[in-house]
Amino acid sequence: MSRVLRAQNLTKRFGDDKVVDNVSLESPEGKITVIMGPNGAGKTTLLKMLALLIPPDAGEIEYNGVKVNTLGEKEKPEFQRKISFVPQKPPVLTASVFRNVYLPLRFRGVEPSRAKSLAEEWLARFRLAGFSRKNAQNLSGGEKQLLALARAFATQPEILLLDEPTAHLAPQNAEFVREFIKRFVYETKAHAIIVSHSVTEAKTLADRLLVMVSGKIKAVYDGEFREEEILKWI
Ligand SMILES: Nc1ncnc2c1ncn2[C@@H]1O[C@H](COP(=O)(O)OP(=O)(O)O)[C@@H](O)[C@H]1O
Ligand SMILES: [Mg+2]
Repeated sequence: MSRVLRAQNLTKRFGDDKVVDNVSLESPEGKITVIMGPNGAGKTTLLKMLALLIPPDAGEIEYNGVKVNTLGEKEKPEFQRKISFVPQKPPVLTASVFRNVYLPLRFRGVEPSRAKSLAEEWLARFRLAGFSRKNAQNLSGGEKQLLALARAFATQPEILLLDEPTAHLAPQNAEFVREFIKRFVYETKAHAIIVSHSVTEAKTLADRLLVMVSGKIKAVYDGEFREEEILKWI
């Protein structure tokens, strides 16, 4: 049976503002869902709820038929280890670039020599081999984003939640990252939900495109869509 990540009627308020308003979505394995929408639409809040970083006020999140948003202290981290969430401005550890990839692998129980070779492999793949010994805090915004992505993929997640993954990247790197995401999702049958402001990115990546405005899903496109249809919302 194929796996599915499902959100049903998620709602989140901050004070009097309903920032996410009754949102439902389904992310099947091996498929990419892209979410576009104006600033303040609630996209980041939605991703954080899916990553179980903030609890919804109402609604539920289900993975393979198991309700995950109310998991206990022991099961929640187990589920979260299946997820790679890359925030808009990814935080990096104050440690070498190498250790930023190595430590999350060790944390997931990968033994030292294997973690070392995997970290080297993923840094090379994300064009960071030469930066290995540098303190990650000293990287540029784009380099930090590449590092966060290398780290996110290295742990072989079942669920990828990416918040504007190419926003700080030069065009060639953005294109490389898009192709990489696509191949990874199709080959490993991961679930991917990607927030983007780029129509090009949506066109390249989206199996399904959701347009989110003022906390609500206003439009859903499966496969083809016309650029003008999207731009009228954002
Ligand atoms: N922790 C918070 N406390 C209060 N308001 C918040 C918080 N996080 C987000 N918001 C507000 O919720 C709205 C949606 O934010 P966000 O989900 O970041 O939107 P988007 O990612 O679509 O730009 C914004 O108006 C933002 O200011
Ligand atoms: Mg955001």
